[in-house]
Amino acid sequence: MYIRQLKWIFLSLLVFSVIAIWYITLSSNTVIEHTNAMYFYEYEPIYKQHYLFTLRQRLKCEDINPFLVILVSSEPKDVKSRQAIRITWGSKNFWWGHRVLTLFLLGQEIHKEDNSATLSVEDESILYGDIIRQDFMDTYDNLTLKTIMAFRWVTEFCSNARFLMKTDADVFINTGNLVKFLLKLNSSENIFTGYPLIDNFAYRGFYKKTYISYDEYPFRLFPPYCSGMGYILDGKLALRIYELMSHIKPIKFEDVYVGICLSILKVNISIPEDKQFFLYKINFDICKYRHLIAVHGITSSEIIRFWQDLSSDASLNCL
Ligand SMILES: *[C@@H]1O[C@H](CO)[C@@H](O)[C@H](O)[C@H]1NC(C)=O
Ligand SMILES: *[C@@H]1O[C@H](CO)[C@@H](O)[C@H](O)[C@H]1NC(C)=O
Ligand SMILES: *[C@@H]1O[C@H](CO)[C@@H](O)[C@H](O)[C@H]1NC(C)=O
Repeated sequence: MYIRQLKWIFLSLLVFSVIAIWYITLSSNTVIEHTNAMYFYEYEPIYKQHYLFTLRQRLKCEDINPFLVILVSSEPKDVKSRQAIRITWGSKNFWWGHRVLTLFLLGQEIHKEDNSATLSVEDESILYGDIIRQDFMDTYDNLTLKTIMAFRWVTEFCSNARFLMKTDADVFINTGNLVKFLLKLNSSENIFTGYPLIDNFAYRGFYKKTYISYDEYPFRLFPPYCSGMGYILDGKLALRIYELMSHIKPIKFEDVYVGICLSILKVNISIPEDKQFFLYKINFDICKYRHLIAVHGITSSEIIRFWQDLSSDASLNCL
């Protein structure tokens, strides 16, 4: 009987201390209410990345003078998605008389499978000439390095591109519509648009993919940014962003990182019309897909199917 009581006392003490430790750890991470992008800024360019380009695209921007370059973030092993994009929304070099270039952003493969049956990234690059790669490890937490690579590539090799779009391999893009949308924009060197995320919370829960620590990001809210699934910007603005990036500490979310840069440059995000960008998959509907610019969460086989469906029925009228 006595032992039993002791056991209970011991157990409740244990539970109490666990709760106390938990409380202390949480409350010491005092979150800062007012977002201040300058927190990430260093006067000296100490965050300049020195990774080497190990692959680059075949065509030279100075020769083709692209109106739009679409840069697609893609994992080395995801050949299927790249192939799907090459034969669908990335297939045409010209839209309404304007040069469009679609290229893929890769890092170094982590576990190189010794499988001669699959196309290696090097072979793919020889075949299609559309791969940009640097020698950092291609992991989810390194996506920011990939975005910095994209901006550096623009600065060093394609500074004459009129517009840029950064997107992902699981995104369906209505390229013709995108070009039309850009042609309608009034020339402004500060255009930055996409799916806007304004007053988004920094997530501190248990889901690792979207979690960010207080150490890495101490503020409650993120600055305004556009989802990494597809943001569009003026080529000249990209040069200013790249310049600034060497002063800004990289954080794990590449789209928030670009948002921090925009805040410091005092560039506002342009909010697009409704129903042009979709953060989550929407089922194929010819009228919706004719109207949209980008929709996220589409598999490679769906990209092929939706593209065929979109291209086939030209007679149908949508209101
Ligand atoms: C990012 O890439 C670098 C360089 O390859 C590597 O050292 C580092 O471990 C990678 N980081 C993550 C979080 O994967
Ligand atoms: C562009 O400018 C014209 C006239 O200055 C204006 O009517 C139009 O709304 C502008 N378009 C955009 C997308 O800002
Ligand atoms: C950006 O937006 C803010 C608030 O909406 C406004 O005060 C400011 O003038 C805008 N800046 C530019 C450059 O358009």
